[in-house]
Amino acid sequence: MWVSLCTLICGVVIASAEKGPELWELNTDAHHRVVRDLADEGHIDVWGHTRQNTKVLVEPELKHRVTRALSDANISHSVVVPDVFDLVEKERENMVLKKSRRKRSAGQMDWTTYHDLDDIEGFLGWLNVTGGNNVHIASASTTTEGRPVLVVRITNPNATGPKKKIWIEGGIHAREWISPAVTTYLMHQVALSPEWRDLLDVTEWYFVPVANPDGYQFSFSSNRARLWRKNRRDNGGLIARCRGVDLNRNWSLKWGVGASSNPCSETYKGIEAFSEPETFGLQRMMNSIPDIDLFITFHSFGQTVLYPWGWTRDPPSNVKQLKGLAKKFANAVNEASGSQTEYELGGSGPLYGLASGATDDWAYGELGVPFSYTIELPDQGTYGFLLPDSRISSTVTETAAGVYCMVRSLTNTGGRCGRRQARNQNVNPRFRG
Ligand code: ARG
Ligand code: ZN
Repeated sequence: MWVSLCTLICGVVIASAEKGPELWELNTDAHHRVVRDLADEGHIDVWGHTRQNTKVLVEPELKHRVTRALSDANISHSVVVPDVFDLVEKERENMVLKKSRRKRSAGQMDWTTYHDLDDIEGFLGWLNVTGGNNVHIASASTTTEGRPVLVVRITNPNATGPKKKIWIEGGIHAREWISPAVTTYLMHQVALSPEWRDLLDVTEWYFVPVANPDGYQFSFSSNRARLWRKNRRDNGGLIARCRGVDLNRNWSLKWGVGASSNPCSETYKGIEAFSEPETFGLQRMMNSIPDIDLFITFHSFGQTVLYPWGWTRDPPSNVKQLKGLAKKFANAVNEASGSQTEYELGGSGPLYGLASGATDDWAYGELGVPFSYTIELPDQGTYGFLLPDSRISSTVTETAAGVYCMVRSLTNTGGRCGRRQARNQNVNPRFRG
């Protein structure tokens, strides 16, 4: 009893005493050589950027080194948030409060708070039962910590005509919590919403709610872990941040472009393409499905719909079609949000700078999926990865409205896309698994 009490209290005391990274704004764009080098060496973590400014996280012990490198290059900076743990702590307190208020049971799921892996797996079990024969769950592989990478197929098996195949990936980056929230919500709508029901005859969906389960679960474990991005691969060495591989730099197409060889970097590419069980298993399963028509991977943040390429600024051959379908998404979201949420569209190379070894480029270039997107969910950087849970339900519903219109267009099943459908994307309050 005393032991466990001490574990609890002492843990809290230690955690709150620890200082977290500072959030800085640099007066330069993220492609500046010094910024790239610092990120490559794992000395900063790029939080987000506009054309003129870059926000970065700086660990307290690296402050002086980073300051020196910046001032040598005449880059000035200001401190936006002196201790990011203050924000993380607020989010955590809020979650604990909600949990205790609701007396939750395992597997209960909603879209008003963020859910850990246990909750999500409970929801999948519930969906599997509730969705009957339309829902099937398989594991693409097992992570280094022994967790399954789950893939959920949803279709009407009794409809035997041609079907569009859609692969939706979420949670490849651990800290982007809104991504699994959106993905699970879409699964719910696809499987159970009357508005989407007819689509199950002409579509076959594959959902990966959490492509990086080890990293995702880790990001729930402490304040320090909240902003974890990579998986949890042990790369050897003792420094905590030098664990993990960036799973969105580990795919084989142009592996290494815009990625780091340094295990301490947030964009570490791994020792070789598909060195990680998550990416290896997912590509194997994707390869086993002939002719995927649409691929979407949900990330945060930025409010952008990105299409290939990431490895070059040259446009891909069907850029017009890619842009067209992206517009369907953006317009529907805009309408569903009452003009609150605006997305920017573009090639990921031109918009974000060259980077590959990412799922989207691989799906497009290697697998031949004609429509391949990375969607960077809200917001535009005010809260960034720490999007408040009060924003979850509006984000999942407006995003579902966007995907709904993409798929209506892809399947030529008409359906007026916009306000009416948007209103029908109601959040169902609660499920038990
Ligand atoms: N934020 C994503 C990442 O850094 C964007 C990926 C876009 N796609 C690409 N091929 N660069 O992983
Ligand atoms: Zn991401």
